[in-house]
Amino acid sequence: MSPYGVITFDGPAASGKSSVAQRIAAALDLPVVSSGLLYRAATLIAEGAQIDLDDEEAVMARLRRHDVELEPVHDGNRVRLDGADVTETLHTDEVDGSVSAVARHPRVRSWVSEHLRRVAPPFVIDGRDMGTVVFPEASDKFYLTASPEVRAKRRVGERAADLERVAHAIRRRDALDAHQLVPANDAQRIDTDPLTLDEVVALVLEALRARRASSVGAPTAGPTTDHAEEC
Ligand code: C5P
Repeated sequence: MSPYGVITFDGPAASGKSSVAQRIAAALDLPVVSSGLLYRAATLIAEGAQIDLDDEEAVMARLRRHDVELEPVHDGNRVRLDGADVTETLHTDEVDGSVSAVARHPRVRSWVSEHLRRVAPPFVIDGRDMGTVVFPEASDKFYLTASPEVRAKRRVGERAADLERVAHAIRRRDALDAHQLVPANDAQRIDTDPLTLDEVVALVLEALRARRASSVGAPTAGPTTDHAEEC
């Protein structure tokens, strides 16, 4: 039996949570789930119907007409819309620009949560409110942070021309997502500003290992380090 249940990685856009979640899932041989893909799929559906994205009832009426399936696989997720794989169309600038408006509707959030709770543990999942709202009983919770400037650099490299535009888009998405960006009390927070991806992955694997070594099968709060703290 796997010693893991649900391992959550929450944090703002481009904080590295999906890269870290994928690496941890690969290291532990677990599937990885990206909750943002379902918000993106809901946005794709609403945009395709050309309805007012602020109209929650209209968005929900559209979602009810479609069958959306999330297929968690080890190297990412696939999303099927009425049987067709739409995964590659979910990361356009258009979806990026509208997804927060769709994700703020409570009934859209319930629709996403219901899809996610159908996935059988163990798995690793990334999002904004996985450790607080969707899986409060998760076995292990992490919250990754980084400054908007560092996140913009990670996204576009050092290209100064794009840097300010991307940092601006990231700050805008932080503001729009602020409501769901609250770390769980029992999450281990990691400030990734001074860390490489390899270093964050090593820190998380060590925390997971240490918890299991100290409490066979019953994970508790992890150790604090220079870059990680309980919040
Ligand atoms: O993680 P990703 O960038 O794919 O998420 C896209 C958007 O979906 C976020 O900007 C946010 O508006 C929404 N989201 C959310 N709650 C989550 C995951 C994503 O509100 N758990």
